[in-house]
Amino acid sequence: MSELSVNHLLGIKYLNKKDIQLIFETADHFKEVINRPIKKVPSLRDITIANLFFENSTRTKLSFELAEKRLSADVINFSASQSSVKKGETLIDTVNNILSMKVDMVVMRHPNPGAGVFLSQHVDASIINAGDGAHEHPTQALLDSYSIRERLGDVKGKNVVIVGDILHSRVALSNIYALQLQGANVMVCGPKTLLPKYIKDLGVKVETNLRKALNWCDVANMLRVQNERMDISYFPSTREYTQQYGVNKALLNSLDKDITIMHPGPINRGVEITSDVADSDQAIILDQVQNGVAIRMAVIYLLASKIKH
Ligand code: CP
Repeated sequence: MSELSVNHLLGIKYLNKKDIQLIFETADHFKEVINRPIKKVPSLRDITIANLFFENSTRTKLSFELAEKRLSADVINFSASQSSVKKGETLIDTVNNILSMKVDMVVMRHPNPGAGVFLSQHVDASIINAGDGAHEHPTQALLDSYSIRERLGDVKGKNVVIVGDILHSRVALSNIYALQLQGANVMVCGPKTLLPKYIKDLGVKVETNLRKALNWCDVANMLRVQNERMDISYFPSTREYTQQYGVNKALLNSLDKDITIMHPGPINRGVEITSDVADSDQAIILDQVQNGVAIRMAVIYLLASKIKH
């Protein structure tokens, strides 16, 4: 029987091509399950999962919780803002207290890069990284590639541009790793100030002109400017950013081909993407959200099958 090469999902960096194929094939099965009248399977009745969110989330938190419930796992939710973290408890103490209640798996979002790796080295549970600072967001990249595969038939050979705030984005790094593993050509596009200095070392094309990037690509993944991670200004004004790096319908119509538009959410309508694009058939933004549940079911199911009771 096929199994993942890893016991945790800490980043796409730790996966191989076969892992991604296995996750997608398993997600295909779960996508069929969640479209049935009875959307639930009894697969994980013996598993308890803790969702630990030290940072805000809408999509990822709800998607993981739904995925866990669709698999019949027992679920507990922890939000740092309402917890004893506020009284000075450390991450390891917090998690060990939760694990002593017989928890098998931890899904964690944390503002610090490497928090998931750190936890995996200090606690006895399977860890899934639900986003660690500006580092990785592996399930987002998996659902993004899965959505490209669904729309375009394959990821291999496709030209994918990631547009916007690459510097502060965990989605960008995880997407670069995932797309390259599957044989896609990857470009990043944004103002020079929002492109990390090391970016060329990752083997991606770099472009600062959005029109050129859109003319090159099959898929454009539009990122939000992460103002919450900025303590200085990286561009003169939001208006200027939108003029240079926002997509709108007129710009897309002026290209000589139809490209697929993606966005991990949350969207800032009128900044990086206008409503006439976000709500158009060219955009697969809500397909990405829907696929997120099947992808997370697949990841949880495959990791749970490696837990020894
Ligand atoms: N895409 C994403 O991670 O969204 P949330 O921050 O709402 O989870």
